[in-house]
Amino acid sequence: MIMHTISDPQAPAMEAPTGIQLSLSQVSKVFPGKRGMFNRQSSPDFVAIDEVSLDIEHNTFVTIIGPSGCGKSTLLNIIGGLSEATTGTVTMDNQPVTGPGPDRGMVFQNYALMPWMTVAGNIGFAVETVYPKLSKARIKQIVSENIELVDLIGAERKYPHELSGGMRQRVGIARALAINPKVLLMDEPFGALDALTRGYLQEEIERIWEQHRKTVIMITHSIDEALLLSDKIVMMTRGPAAKIAQILDVPFPRPRDRNSVEHHPAYDGLRTEMEAHLYRETRYVEQSRIQAKDRSSNTDTSKDDLL
Ligand SMILES: Nc1ncnc2c1ncn2[C@@H]1O[C@H](COP(=O)(O)OP(=O)(O)OP(=O)(O)O)[C@@H](O)[C@H]1O
Ligand SMILES: [Mg+2]
Repeated sequence: MIMHTISDPQAPAMEAPTGIQLSLSQVSKVFPGKRGMFNRQSSPDFVAIDEVSLDIEHNTFVTIIGPSGCGKSTLLNIIGGLSEATTGTVTMDNQPVTGPGPDRGMVFQNYALMPWMTVAGNIGFAVETVYPKLSKARIKQIVSENIELVDLIGAERKYPHELSGGMRQRVGIARALAINPKVLLMDEPFGALDALTRGYLQEEIERIWEQHRKTVIMITHSIDEALLLSDKIVMMTRGPAAKIAQILDVPFPRPRDRNSVEHHPAYDGLRTEMEAHLYRETRYVEQSRIQAKDRSSNTDTSKDDLL
């Protein structure tokens, strides 16, 4: 029998924590503009997100949705400690987040696997890096458990280039789960997948989440994905200076499947509200783009006239 120690990633929690786990207080991110020599060809600073405050409770599944380019990844990267907030604070379990850490596991859209390592190698390497004191046997066991969890048995010795997109994303999810983070952060994890694989993996995530309830923050562009998986949906405004427009509570009972969710009396209302928000914000962004294009082509014409 294997004894769990505190430094063991799969050690059972003493008791299920409750209350606020992650707290964002007035978080803003400003990307500095380019400074040309003698101030020529300079561009202004860009305020991506503006004073975003958000409290996330333990073991909730939160999705973030908003128009393209509004600042979703920027916000997630700040929570993950991969990027620093310009102003404001992020705390996890009342401790300030100052950089990346094993308490926050990341799953990326482009998988970010190491191509020279097998499936088992990629997962094992992550566990070994975070928990260097674990025995080889224990690491092997954690790798097998997580490979089983994401349904990849038989693919252990394959390299990333030998896998489909869906399988690569399963490895990414297994790798993040293997270090047993307190919070799982996922940036459009199914964005690169075909519709069928995507639908299948969404249901897999729901199944895994039922088994290992933990806090998840996931970015998505899919209304149906958000409704299937979330307890709360954070809807962001368009950028620049994006904010949280509204947070929706999703009341569907768990465990869920697509069919039961779609037949819930609250489904149509929530879907319509999300569609209206996204349509409104995206239409504004597109109109601004067209106007900017018109302005620049008018400027080009006047330049031509001068020649
Ligand atoms: N390193 C950077 N330097 C300057 N601007 C940046 C940088 N990273 C992001 N931005 C800008 O910040 C804004 C938000 O970008 P972000 O990638 O967070 O958007 P997003 O909501 O994740 O978009 P998408 O849905 O397309 O993934 C964009 O206008 C982007 O151009
Ligand atoms: Mg993004």
